[in-house]
Amino acid sequence: MDKIHPSEITPERLYFSRRKFLAGLGLFAASTVITSACKLGGKEPGPGGFCDSAQAGATTDELGAGLTACNDIINYNNYYEFTLEKTGVAELARDFKTSPWTVEVGGLVKNPRSLTVDELIRKYAPEERIYRLRCVEAWSMVIPWLGFPLGKLLKDVVPDAKAKYVRFTGVHDPKNMPGQQDRYFPWPYIEGLRLDEAMHDLSILATGLYGKPLPVQDGAPIRLVVPWKYGFKSIKDIVRIDLVEDMPDSFWMSASPNEYGFYANVNPEVPHPRWSQSSERRIGEASRRPTLPFNGYGEQVAALYAGMDLRKFF
Ligand code: MTE
Repeated sequence: MDKIHPSEITPERLYFSRRKFLAGLGLFAASTVITSACKLGGKEPGPGGFCDSAQAGATTDELGAGLTACNDIINYNNYYEFTLEKTGVAELARDFKTSPWTVEVGGLVKNPRSLTVDELIRKYAPEERIYRLRCVEAWSMVIPWLGFPLGKLLKDVVPDAKAKYVRFTGVHDPKNMPGQQDRYFPWPYIEGLRLDEAMHDLSILATGLYGKPLPVQDGAPIRLVVPWKYGFKSIKDIVRIDLVEDMPDSFWMSASPNEYGFYANVNPEVPHPRWSQSSERRIGEASRRPTLPFNGYGEQVAALYAGMDLRKFF
């Protein structure tokens, strides 16, 4: 598997200044050594690993594409709280504690709730959802998630009439997440959806993949998955969900407003300012494939954007 340079998602300005910053601290060499000591793609250490007993209810997505290999899903990640590199996240995240874990659900709601992930799993019974994940960097995977519709949780807290958006907040734990010591990024990771997008049945909170609880590197213990949007919308390690009146500023909108918008719907016709989005590299496949509008979920979601200029609302 070839490696995508971290600067592809990181705004160039931030990427280079971060390198300078790390070099100043004498950390650049150290982080390079750590990365190159990690296996580069697709292999999991030893027997008894996560993928040994991984199972999914199907072998393809609804378009007939095969599932991405479990080892690729758990060893090729974007998780800036730990590192800008895609490989080696698992090692850096190995000791990160994800239980007990509480999610606060509040803001403009009638019944604010504080629920542990165990309670959420008992209450909402996660089911398998096989979704394509299309990263803004133009790689993609097909992942058998275990999750439940976010809309079920939102209905139970009863949004006020004023609530128009949902804001998701990731955990802030710089002591245990080395990437959060990088002050060039606006930690914690924040994401947002319009309320109708959040209520759509395809939007799930995932707690597992390949039949097992989520590995840390894939966002344990709970993350959002919104399959028709670029992967950065699918925030990992959620600790708060707030119903709000105004459009939230997301992590990437704050880091690089010219490159990353609020909507981030997969769109082959709107290039990223630094690369085309017309095709993608499916992890595990040799040749590129064309990118589908809304990542292939147009029939289900295009109506959410009727009348909107998707070049303007990117
Ligand atoms: N969530 C958090 N909290 N931190 C991150 O760095 N990266 C995003 C998204 N969610 C990210 C995140 C990006 S850019 C992508 S493509 C997906 O997670 C990758 O998910 P995966 O590592 O499980 O494949």
